[in-house]
Amino acid sequence: MKLNVPAHILAIPAYVPGKPVEELERERGVRGAVKLASNENPLGPSPQAVKAARQALSGVHRYPESGGYELTRALAARLDLAPGNIVLGNGSDEIIGMLATAFLQPGDEVIMARPSFAMYEIAARAAGAVPVAVPLADYCHDLAAMAGRVTPRTRMVFVNSPHNPTGSMVRRAALEALLAALPADVLLVLDEAYIEFVRAAEHPDSRDYVNGDRPVVGLRTFSKAYGLAGMRIGYGIMPAAVAEVLHRVRQPFNVSLPAQKAAAAALGDLRFLERTLKTVHAGVDFLYDALREAGLDCLPSQSNFLFFEVPRPAQAVFEALLDRGVIVRPLAGYGYPQHLRVSVGRRAENLRFIEALRQVLGA
Ligand SMILES: Cc1ncc(COP(=O)(O)O)c(C=O)c1O
Repeated sequence: MKLNVPAHILAIPAYVPGKPVEELERERGVRGAVKLASNENPLGPSPQAVKAARQALSGVHRYPESGGYELTRALAARLDLAPGNIVLGNGSDEIIGMLATAFLQPGDEVIMARPSFAMYEIAARAAGAVPVAVPLADYCHDLAAMAGRVTPRTRMVFVNSPHNPTGSMVRRAALEALLAALPADVLLVLDEAYIEFVRAAEHPDSRDYVNGDRPVVGLRTFSKAYGLAGMRIGYGIMPAAVAEVLHRVRQPFNVSLPAQKAAAAALGDLRFLERTLKTVHAGVDFLYDALREAGLDCLPSQSNFLFFEVPRPAQAVFEALLDRGVIVRPLAGYGYPQHLRVSVGRRAENLRFIEALRQVLGA
């Protein structure tokens, strides 16, 4: 087929998702596989969210409310913000895309850590902008080096804390030093997809900056702690002036009615959130100790996954785990051919992963 694809689109690296359970079972004939590859909620969705989504189905012949009135207000009340500080997205992925569409022009520069969540580079390149990737230092954002890469073309800086795939975090004071070093019109995007799992007191919170005079945007999601990854719903926290710009490029009905209703119900289901945090924190602690006991170098994590090194090419370990029905995430594409990322599962899943890994590494 003859296509005229612009060079900046051809430069986009395709996003590689975690392997679905169905695909593994089809390919290798294994049964009862466990997926610990996409940092999803091991408890499933909140039952209240499921009920609300079901009820919403009888109303889907109508378009949903464009701005997500009810959910935006519920979020504002929970987060102690104004509704005008919140923009809903079809996953926080969509907010990344909206930011790029609204604020980037060809040739603009976007600073991010390397490795980073792949969507920052994809969205920047799709807008014709130039990603400026700054290597992590000791598996953490090197915020001073990132500040050092600012040029007159810089329009946006992405910081992801807790960081995917390492689980490391930035500290509030270091983030504020970066903010102080940035020109006043450069957007600082703090991706907080995993913030609900954070246990460290010095972790920053984007809410502290939305009423200042700087364009700081926080990205949050219902995909992780709230168990709604398949619903596709996330949100951005930002100064009202930034939100007004995003609404210009937002598709009018970008978040489905069942997603809005499910998210509002999940937000109110505090018992489910509490159970999730308890399960995830216990799982992080268990897996961290078990991996260390197995002699593997594993980073402490503020998130719902762990990043660890294996003593042979990680792709081979990943494949051998697949044969045992356990899906984790290989990280060669992130520049770590010796590392794997494992998401916290339920206790039985965590045990199965550790047992399979011991077999693979002992073999
Ligand atoms: C760092 C980070 N940001 C954003 C997202 C996207 O989340 P959502 O499902 O809300 O689009 C993910 C998902 O894995 C992530 O790891």
